[in-house]
Amino acid sequence: MPVDIDKLTSYYAEGGHGVALSDIDLKRVPRHVSIIMDGNGRWATARGLDRSKGHVAGVDALREAVTTSVRLGVEVFSVYAFSTENWRRPKREVDLLMHLFATTLVNELPLFHQENVRLLFFGDLTRLPERTRKVFQRGLDETADHTGMVFALAVNYGSRAEIARAARELAEEVAAGALSPDEIDEDALSSRLYTAGLPDPDLLIRTSGEMRLSNYLLWQLAYTEFYVTNTLWPDFSRWDYLKAIASYQARSRRFGGVVSR
Ligand code: FPP
Repeated sequence: MPVDIDKLTSYYAEGGHGVALSDIDLKRVPRHVSIIMDGNGRWATARGLDRSKGHVAGVDALREAVTTSVRLGVEVFSVYAFSTENWRRPKREVDLLMHLFATTLVNELPLFHQENVRLLFFGDLTRLPERTRKVFQRGLDETADHTGMVFALAVNYGSRAEIARAARELAEEVAAGALSPDEIDEDALSSRLYTAGLPDPDLLIRTSGEMRLSNYLLWQLAYTEFYVTNTLWPDFSRWDYLKAIASYQARSRRFGGVVSR
């Protein structure tokens, strides 16, 4: 994605964060960055606040991460917002999150228009409350012809369910005579995942120090570089994002082969 260098320079003008824009190579920014946003609850609890306040603060961090992604020229930015397992949380917290998703999406639509961002969702949206579903659909419709960065939200997402769903689709096509079993290869399966048509993530960031994938993009993360930070999601800033990219760029990606640089 093209980068507006003036905007980017002033976005990162402030010093004193232990990392600077000059620490990264703008020609090697990852195409697809994905984040497991974790630690909202702990952030709130540490301040004697209700967990819900952590999610509200998490929205601000997410807005900044979307803006940073656009400024840096990332092509696809995806985040894990709600897993299929998250329904097990107390009803009050689930309701708050569903409300927050809907409200945030409406509030952020002007930003998506201004920055030419196209929205996508990973996950089964049919189980979401009607208002959330309608707002998500509105977001999809209103940004469908945007040609800038893709911003994908994984909501009611589980990777194993996604793969099972793709397998079921392939089986149905075989049963209908539209596909032969020997046409089932990696591309055939990939093209039936929620991420169809998108590049696999180059960089996966997980906040709050957990070393887990939590059923997130298991297929798509096969060759992705991982970056785990102890920073809790509401504290994750444009500077933390830059540190993650600097770390990513310091690695050599071999995709199972030999060193290429
Ligand atoms: C993880 O923190 C965060 C979530 C499960 C929800 C993510 C939601 C947001 C960042 C709010 C805004 C999102 C959108 C898409 C508008 P946690 O609750 O698991 O924290 P803990 O591990 O400290 O308990």
